[in-house]
Amino acid sequence: MTDVSKKSDFPILKRRIHGKRFAYLDSAATAQRPVVVLKAMDEFQRKHNANTHRGIYLISEEATALYEGARQKVAAFIHAQPNEIVFTRNATEAINLVAYAWGRANIVTGDNIIVTEMEHHSNLVPWQLLCKERKAELRVVPVTDEGAVVMKEFTKLLTHRTKLVAVSGMSNVFGTMPDLAVIARSAHRKNALVLVDGAQLAAHVPVDVKKLGVDFLALSAHKMLGPMGIGVLWAKRELLEAMPPFLAGGDMIREVSLQTATWNDLPWKFEAGTPNAVGAVGFGAAVDYLTKLGMGSVRRHEMALTAYALKKLRHIKGVSIYGPTSARLKGGVIAFNVQGIHPHDLATLLDREGVAIRSGHHCAQPLMQKFGVMATARMSFSVYTTKQDIDQCIAAIAKATKVMA
Ligand SMILES: Cc1ncc(COP(=O)(O)O)c(C=O)c1O
Repeated sequence: MTDVSKKSDFPILKRRIHGKRFAYLDSAATAQRPVVVLKAMDEFQRKHNANTHRGIYLISEEATALYEGARQKVAAFIHAQPNEIVFTRNATEAINLVAYAWGRANIVTGDNIIVTEMEHHSNLVPWQLLCKERKAELRVVPVTDEGAVVMKEFTKLLTHRTKLVAVSGMSNVFGTMPDLAVIARSAHRKNALVLVDGAQLAAHVPVDVKKLGVDFLALSAHKMLGPMGIGVLWAKRELLEAMPPFLAGGDMIREVSLQTATWNDLPWKFEAGTPNAVGAVGFGAAVDYLTKLGMGSVRRHEMALTAYALKKLRHIKGVSIYGPTSARLKGGVIAFNVQGIHPHDLATLLDREGVAIRSGHHCAQPLMQKFGVMATARMSFSVYTTKQDIDQCIAAIAKATKVMA
């Protein structure tokens, strides 16, 4: 197994946790940041901090150039145009932007929106609110116990009243990746649009919005080795042009009188107020880092680790795994439970061994209900994860089973 990036690029991973080597296996919650990201943000703060698009002095022009440069980097990363990249706070805000700006302008009584059973709450609750408000129907495509979208059911639910299909590109519980191109083709045949929650997807596999043929994509920088507090909504230009603004205020206007206003060009029409310029710069540095590694290599690295971890986990008595047991069918995330040990207890015991895993409902309570559990444990990987991290985790799980037996 070849490592795709150097663990030493990530300063936090040098920490000792309770006196032990640190094995960080919660990258699906948030990924760690390489030193190039930290440096880019530090340099922005030290040398270029000024409000963007406003000052006519040197450092404000530099701040604007760095902010807009980050937009270009993110656009190139997903094969989009810079004016289709709207900076938001996170993927959740990007999805809400669509639900409010596009949804309130386009969804009427009797329409339907399709989601899947494995959506993160961020790609479920905004559509619940919209459908309630508009007396529209929220239709839910079931997933199999292995986390595959049941395409036959999807086809049945899709009608000429379907206006939007909102689907996760990669489940944060199963790691499964629905065939987005197939979903988009079917949806478009009924004139429905497709929104992809790419919060997990874009951190782990190459994403090309043109090839996928979808209409909206939501991203969070902090899942992609960037900072928290910055995300992206990508949408086709014609959709952004037709949509009314989401948040209103400074920067998003062209001209304002006391009674009325007109809107700025794309993408600034959707960026009200002072932006998170330092966050955008960090995001730009993160996509540079990922681009240098190559997302194909990232995927191969994580697939090899996932295969390794699945094999090791299966050998521990009492472990049940949720989702596919083949690494080819999933990203680097494994939800599991150990018989007789509550996932919170397991996570606490693992923490004592220097291993950070997630325990909880993973913001996917309907999936937990499907499996009849309150919570699961989850380990998840990124570019810096090593076999040694997994070995440390597996040894800690084995030890926990003995302690709790
Ligand atoms: C699949 C998925 N969608 C959406 C989100 C929400 O991301 P954020 O909290 O950064 O908006 C997450 C975060 O865990 C996620 O895993």
